[in-house]
Amino acid sequence: MLIDSHCHLDLPHFDEDRDEMVARALEAGVETIITIGIDLAHSRAAIALAERYPQVFATVGIHPNDCAGFGPEMLAELRELAGHPRVVGIGEIGLDYYWDRVPVEVQKPAFRAQLDLAAELDLPVVIHDREAHDDVRAELRAWAQDRLPGTPLSEKPFTGVLHSFSGDLDMAEEAYEWGFVIGISGPVTFKNARSLQALVPRLRRDRLIIETDAPYLTPHPYRGKRNEPAYVALVAEKLAELWAMPSAEVAAQTTATARKLFGIG
Ligand code: NI
Repeated sequence: MLIDSHCHLDLPHFDEDRDEMVARALEAGVETIITIGIDLAHSRAAIALAERYPQVFATVGIHPNDCAGFGPEMLAELRELAGHPRVVGIGEIGLDYYWDRVPVEVQKPAFRAQLDLAAELDLPVVIHDREAHDDVRAELRAWAQDRLPGTPLSEKPFTGVLHSFSGDLDMAEEAYEWGFVIGISGPVTFKNARSLQALVPRLRRDRLIIETDAPYLTPHPYRGKRNEPAYVALVAEKLAELWAMPSAEVAAQTTATARKLFGIG
């Protein structure tokens, strides 16, 4: 059984066939879907979907590209939304220097405030990092040191995921020290994804979860079309190939890790 640990089910891309899409995911062996908030309205919509479908859970958060109006009021509403029983994390939050839609000096305090909220509520974080590796590392390093001082790696709780990972081995190994896991998505299946495909065999198998980021990042052979949670099976198949192990084992391992991270029983 698989978990799609990151998608955006509430987006209008799915308005025509959301029920069928969730049914197709179940048929493909996707037992749990985590739908991710990007602003307050989408976080509320994510919770509504988690109330509607028994296999769907939600996270709430303000994406770095949508954090222009971030302040105490937004934080207060996020805190309230995060108390909902179907909410399993804070995200996606982070830094985005690719689109550069919101100034860095606004992105950073919004990121820090939401990291602190997650620590306060003891929820894991879902991290968006686009062309901001150095600053994301500095922020998470400081946060993890405050949160888990001196705890040996083997005793650390899982505290977050670097979603749709685009860093290098050095970054992944530091992330383990923060209690993080690595999220791998559709691009690992792309024919030209040589560096990611070379990295995956060097990552810890017990610290990796899989995701679609649907409707985006559609895996091969559907690249160019809309993505959906059922296609997380294609990510699992690619990992099975790269790790030279049966896909059922990839599914079991990544599902156990995702369950532990998000506290889903
Ligand atoms: Ni996303």
